[in-house]
Amino acid sequence: MEKPRYKNWIPFKLVAAVLLGALALLLIARLLVEKNAVAGLLLMLLAFAALFFGLYILRARTALDDDGGGVQGKVLDGVLRHLARTGWNGRGKALDIGCGSGALTVKLAKAYPRAHVVGVDLWGRGWEYSQKLCEDNARIEGVGARASFRCGDAAKLPFVDGVFDVAVSNFVFHEVRAQPDKRALILEALRVLRPGGAFAFQDTFFNRHVYGDAQEFVAALRPHVTEIHFVDMRRPDYAPGFLNTRVVLGNMGLIWGRK
Ligand SMILES: C[S@@+](CC[C@H](N)C(=O)[O-])C[C@H]1O[C@@H](n2cnc3c(N)ncnc32)[C@H](O)[C@@H]1O
Repeated sequence: MEKPRYKNWIPFKLVAAVLLGALALLLIARLLVEKNAVAGLLLMLLAFAALFFGLYILRARTALDDDGGGVQGKVLDGVLRHLARTGWNGRGKALDIGCGSGALTVKLAKAYPRAHVVGVDLWGRGWEYSQKLCEDNARIEGVGARASFRCGDAAKLPFVDGVFDVAVSNFVFHEVRAQPDKRALILEALRVLRPGGAFAFQDTFFNRHVYGDAQEFVAALRPHVTEIHFVDMRRPDYAPGFLNTRVVLGNMGLIWGRK
């Protein structure tokens, strides 16, 4: 039986590059240490730090994976759990911004059998995702007729105002390097939502370098919506503690509400 392929948030090529880089540094350090002991030892320290980091992201990748600890799917379930709190009746059009390999898009389509779901993403080269992969996953999961995908930028969504009844997103806004103003990104997502439409966005809202103070960030959105709630999603009980770092789940927060 054909199986969907939901790609890991930690790409394999990143893990491989870090581990291979660490091994290369170790080799160079070993050669250097005979000529210049201090430089050689410093390089060795750097190599061990890279090796440690590489092994950490390898372990995190396994915990996140559907074929490992399955944490990634549970993180996405958190978005749907909070979307349900908006009271959306499940009818109409929903948008998944930065859909990756379509994991949240498909979950949404399965949870709401009367909805049509659109996934949008840039599918840049840094990721192992593609539009074809999303379409294949939706078809294999039996929701191909109610899920469609298109290429588009979260900073300038390719949709007219107010066409969606729902908008969701998971771990995307912090990735949009071309738009450092994250408030503008959320307002862009709200633009395509109809008045009263429901939303649930999960991201690294506790990363001060990206969002500043999370509470202030949410307060600034309040004039643009009729209802908004902020939820601290850090240290979830379903995830092993070692994932609670800045690199993986340590800054996770969620906003949900109605436009
Ligand atoms: C960590 S992945 C999350 C994917 C998916 N939301 C999930 O939870 O499985 C980040 C995603 O953001 C997408 N992305 C980054 N910048 C984007 C942009 N400007 N517009 C749309 N998508 C973008 C990437 O292509 C990638 O699919």
